[in-house]
Amino acid sequence: MGIMGFKKREKPSIYEESHHVQYGYGLDRYHELSSQLDFMKFTEEELRTAKWLYPIVEKHIDRIVNEFYEQIEKKPELNAIVNKHSSIDRLKNTLKKHILELFQVEINEEFLEKRLMIAKKHIHIHLPTHWYMGSFQNLVSSLSTILREEFSDDIDQAFEAFKVVQKYMSIEQLIVLKAYEDENKRLREVSEATQQEIVNQVEHYSNGLVQYGEENSSRVQELVAGVESVANHAQTGLSISTEAQKLATEGKENLEQQAKSAQSILDQSTSVHNSVAALERSSEKVTEFVGYMSNIASQTNLLALNASIEASRAGEAGKGFSVVAEEVRKLAAQSREMAETITETIEENKTSVTRISTSVDEMKHSVEHNANQLSQTIEHVERIFHALGRSYEQGQSIENETKEIMHMVQAIGVESEKIVSSLEQLHEDIQQL
Ligand code: HEM
Repeated sequence: MGIMGFKKREKPSIYEESHHVQYGYGLDRYHELSSQLDFMKFTEEELRTAKWLYPIVEKHIDRIVNEFYEQIEKKPELNAIVNKHSSIDRLKNTLKKHILELFQVEINEEFLEKRLMIAKKHIHIHLPTHWYMGSFQNLVSSLSTILREEFSDDIDQAFEAFKVVQKYMSIEQLIVLKAYEDENKRLREVSEATQQEIVNQVEHYSNGLVQYGEENSSRVQELVAGVESVANHAQTGLSISTEAQKLATEGKENLEQQAKSAQSILDQSTSVHNSVAALERSSEKVTEFVGYMSNIASQTNLLALNASIEASRAGEAGKGFSVVAEEVRKLAAQSREMAETITETIEENKTSVTRISTSVDEMKHSVEHNANQLSQTIEHVERIFHALGRSYEQGQSIENETKEIMHMVQAIGVESEKIVSSLEQLHEDIQQL
């Protein structure tokens, strides 16, 4: 039985258009959807019924929308989505308009476009499909209750009206499903493209990695050789420092020996110096005595001369005495000559002694100077000795550290070989992807 009392619509209905252009939305883009609608078979009567239902739906729109959001508010997950992107009050208004439009406008391209856009908005806010579909069921349930109340006296009318509502809700659901399906398809394509891109990139990088791994491996080999050479140098350095330390010890002993000799020369020269000074003093005394001697000889000579004069005055009696006096005079003269000779000799000796004294002093200074230099040299040699000791210790720690580094580098070498073979394996696996 038909529903009575609504005016004939001015625009052609989806049903009317279906005879020539597949319900008026027979576009390629919506081909699947239009054939689906075709499959659902909308009759002209049903389309009219939808228009006729508008005032009833409008009358109860607040109730419908409130019931809808009451359910949503019960689910924290849905509530969170609403609060993140909008608010219940704002959405109530949009839903009101949306539902009323359903019973008012044509099912044409614009209608489909708009619903598809709304469905995409829900995809965008990550509303899961099952909640979306479940919500349609809530709308259907509210609408069916209202229709039962409105047509309580005519079960057939209620049934007709419910059939139309059910169909309209199905259209919405189909659109939503289509949008989700398109999105899934798009995501799958993106994911496949991304996957291929990743495979290409991984292949590209793995290629590079194999090359890099091989280069790295040969660099590690060079490193091992370098470290080995450092270790050898360190070893040579150690032997050289040991040898140098030995030489420094010998040199130091040698120098100490020389220092001792210099000290003994100094001691000897001091004693020579003292002896020369004593000699000088003795010579002074001898000169003094020779002076006395010479004086005594002169006086003796005078006395002998006087005695000889007195003896000649005594005549014959003084003859013998005169001979003695003459002898005494001769002796005195000889004594004076001797004294002069002694003085000369002493003077000569004095000159020689002065020369010796000067030479000894010079030698002493020179030896002292050398001894100073020697002790400075000994200090230097001691410092060299200690420096060599430190250099030896450093050489030893270099040697130990190089050994450790060598072990590490060798381990790196082994690891990098493993990496290269893993990379080669990876590269082969990737090429088979
Ligand atoms: C029968 C199911 C539903 C219908 C008919 C529907 C309808 C609508 C409409 C008409 C809009 C306005 C779109 C625009 O901006 O033009 C909208 C937006 C929105 N809906 Fe729904 N909705 C449904 C289910 C849900 C559910 C279950 C949630 C739960 C979270 C939800 C949350 C939202 C939110 C957050 C927006 C705002 C989106 C934005 O502005 O980015 N909707 N909805």
